[in-house]
Amino acid sequence: HQLPFRDVEFHGLFMPKSIASPGRGILAIDESNATCGKRLASIGLDNTEGNRQTYRQLLLTTPGLGDYISGAILFEETLYQSTTDGKKFVDCLCDENIVPGIKVDKGLAPLPGSNNESWCQGLDGLASRSASYYKQGARFAKWRTVVSIPCGPSALADNGLVPIVEPEILLDGDHSIERTLEVADRVWAEVFYYLAENNVMLEGILLKPSMVTPGAEHKEKASPETIAKFTLHMLKRRVPPAVPGIMFLSGGQSEVEATLNLNAMNQTPNPWHVSFSYARALQNSVLKTWQGRPWNTEAAQKALLARAKANSLAQLGRYSA
Ligand code: 13P
Repeated sequence: HQLPFRDVEFHGLFMPKSIASPGRGILAIDESNATCGKRLASIGLDNTEGNRQTYRQLLLTTPGLGDYISGAILFEETLYQSTTDGKKFVDCLCDENIVPGIKVDKGLAPLPGSNNESWCQGLDGLASRSASYYKQGARFAKWRTVVSIPCGPSALADNGLVPIVEPEILLDGDHSIERTLEVADRVWAEVFYYLAENNVMLEGILLKPSMVTPGAEHKEKASPETIAKFTLHMLKRRVPPAVPGIMFLSGGQSEVEATLNLNAMNQTPNPWHVSFSYARALQNSVLKTWQGRPWNTEAAQKALLARAKANSLAQLGRYSA
């Protein structure tokens, strides 16, 4: 049998290809309620269901968003929400030709017996939850776990990797870019080993890796050209060209860094669609502009569109600061 997607049509296109379409990428707004609360707190808003809904409505009803965004990853609560006028968020997305997606892991928990590492939750009930999400309109799923370099990865954390895991190698730490490359090599080798063991149809998946960068506290910053070189090196070594799309997370990089690094990777031809699936690097200036004030909504939507367009150009290798 083949995993993970059997019904992969979306608007007449093979679904992963429709997400990995030129000049478009993924808007990740699948923050858990706790994480969304932190974003709202940064602009002085309480973490209520109403505020989360208002903020997600602002993002998902941005006119023209579908020009630059091909998929949106939602948190479970958002998948079932509607606009204040009663239009399902899923329908807002489909109207813009954006594929609705869902985060299916249930977040991180401490990994017992490890050196302070975390592991992801959510295999219990995954099949029935996935069926309900599909019914509600979701067409792709994200599964995230993390690997941390200062303490890991231990063999225990490595062996736990299962198909369709999206391992985020955390930016935290003062390690070099060479160390990140070593860890990324190991992690992706393991992921593709298990994908093959489980007969996963590679044409039907998308990857969401972190870029190969030095740790955030490393003494030297790397240029976009260096980051592109190391990251493409890792991809070429570990990721078969059958995988249609590489959708990078931003991982705490600034908005401009995330755009410049993506642009640098698209300066040379490569076998995949190398694009973005950013949360923070698409939302930071939206939040700052919005401040929770209804009269700032339009300006905040313009800020989202500006970031989305910059990353769209970067996907095509045509961005200049
Ligand atoms: P960041 O782009 O903020 O790292 O988030 C990516 C992510 O994993 C959310 O889906």
